[in-house]
Amino acid sequence: MQSSNVVTSSIPFLDLVAPHIELEQELTNVFRRALVTAGFIGGPMVEEFEGAFATFCSTSHSVAVSSGTDALRFALMACGVETGDVIVTVPHTFIATTEAISQAGALPEFVDIDENTYNMSVEMLRRYLEEQCSRDQAGRLISMRSGRPVTAVVPVHLYGQMADMDPILRLASKYGLKVIEDACQAHGAEYFSKKLNRWMKAGSMGQAAAFSFYPGKNLGACGEAGAVTTNDAALADKVRVLRDHGQVKKYYHNVEGYNGRLDAIQAGILHAKLAHLAKWNAQRRERAAEYNQLLADNESITLPSEPSWSSAVYHLYVIRTLDREGLMSHLKEAGIGTGIHYPIPLHLQSAYTALNYAPGDFPVAECASAEIVSLPMFPQLTAEQQATVAEEIRAFTSKTFYKPAESEHVSIASAQLSA
Ligand SMILES: Cc1ncc(COP(=O)(O)O)c(C=O)c1O
Repeated sequence: MQSSNVVTSSIPFLDLVAPHIELEQELTNVFRRALVTAGFIGGPMVEEFEGAFATFCSTSHSVAVSSGTDALRFALMACGVETGDVIVTVPHTFIATTEAISQAGALPEFVDIDENTYNMSVEMLRRYLEEQCSRDQAGRLISMRSGRPVTAVVPVHLYGQMADMDPILRLASKYGLKVIEDACQAHGAEYFSKKLNRWMKAGSMGQAAAFSFYPGKNLGACGEAGAVTTNDAALADKVRVLRDHGQVKKYYHNVEGYNGRLDAIQAGILHAKLAHLAKWNAQRRERAAEYNQLLADNESITLPSEPSWSSAVYHLYVIRTLDREGLMSHLKEAGIGTGIHYPIPLHLQSAYTALNYAPGDFPVAECASAEIVSLPMFPQLTAEQQATVAEEIRAFTSKTFYKPAESEHVSIASAQLSA
């Protein structure tokens, strides 16, 4: 394909074939083990993976379930979220975050994101709790918007970068709220907690956390899968009951539950891949550093920012630019895959008209969703491929963007002052 006089070969947004070919033997052995034992649902392969994943996340427990959405729903329910509760989260996330809240019987309410990290803004959470909630006679925190009790917060560690957990946990504790981390994009991400004076793994900081192992995730199954992590043994037990039709032992149902179990083949595959996750995450960080360097002098785009307290695992590498559609179609012409995560913030999705939010309610999320574009990012991405991506971005931005000279900045500024 021809673009900007440079011949490029196709650079996919994500390459899911390479890692599976690399591990073909290990993964095939998992199938064999399941076939000869016929242990298809639950059993030792699931338990072995649960133990290994808990160790990876530095938590005492991990309970494997059938998807990230179920992980979040079960985590919320096991934390004691009840029908009619309000759960606070962000509008800039995949819809599964709010679907899980609704499926747990609760109502999502939003606070805006931080414009640098794209994660929950601590200031907006503080303002929501201080200015948009009151106490009822029983002392419960009530949302003025819906009149319902606010009981939990779901920070999302989007794109593989953790939300600013210390202040979120502090606010949650002050207002008596549970914290359930949506870590579905953040396997292995770390946060430096000033409070604890150490790095903490994603999924180890709230009462519970949800992970997705959808195939394209940093740790992905060859199908659907998810897990809840927690340091609370009783909570882990509740999730085990919820995922298995509410039964504490076979045919003894304490509550109605769900069919949310993980099958053994997926658990075995995840366990085999988990051994490579730290290496893959390190490669993603190297790829991100390479993009940062290649794109550093391009004034038309904003690069991802990583605060000093964050060690992101770059599930996605997201830049920002004013002519996002133009850039994407230029890259498409050049055979380079891109994505938008996500084009419409949740409060403006048709699915949530009943929540009565309006354009302008969350300006940071709205502005981000119009300008963000995700570049190819996967561990096997090569330096040559990245150089081509950067070259094509430069070719597009240098031809389309008007950059005022230094002297013009002054005259534009003074014209604005006098206007
Ligand atoms: C932020 C976020 N939350 C929740 C989910 C739901 O995970 P799953 O697709 O495994 O149900 C995803 C998966 O895409 C996600 O990215």
